Amino acid sequence: MAYVVTEACVNCKYTNCAAVCPVDAFREGPNFLVINPDECIDCDACRSECPVEAIYPDDEVPADQEHYIDWNARLAEKWDAHVINETKDALPDADAWATKSKTVDDIVQDW
Ligand code: SF4
Ligand code: F3S
Repeated sequence: MAYVVTEACVNCKYTNCAAVCPVDAFREGPNFLVINPDECIDCDACRSECPVEAIYPDDEVPADQEHYIDWNARLAEKWDAHVINETKDALPDADAWATKSKTVDDIVQDW
């Protein structure tokens, strides 16, 4: 099992989650964070840190967002060099995006 970052994070990237992970499982993309499923130890520390409730254990991911399980695994590999283990400023329009619907098409994959 592993925890998964889902749609609500896209274009927000508040990063509160990354600072509490005991195993540095988070990877950073330009406008989204993911969790490396091979490193996550299911400690549950990050879930309550996210102000937009983007993080779920993989067996609780809402049905319409289950594709994010694969996207976390794939982007964690792609962004392997971009470990994030501290809080940074959220993206400039994070608060505006927090209530909007987003899709994987909104994820910027390349730094
Ligand atoms: Fe890190 Fe724990 Fe969150 Fe997994 S559940 S990503 S180990 S803080
Ligand atoms: Fe994203 Fe929430 Fe972390 S918005 S960066 S999953 S605190």
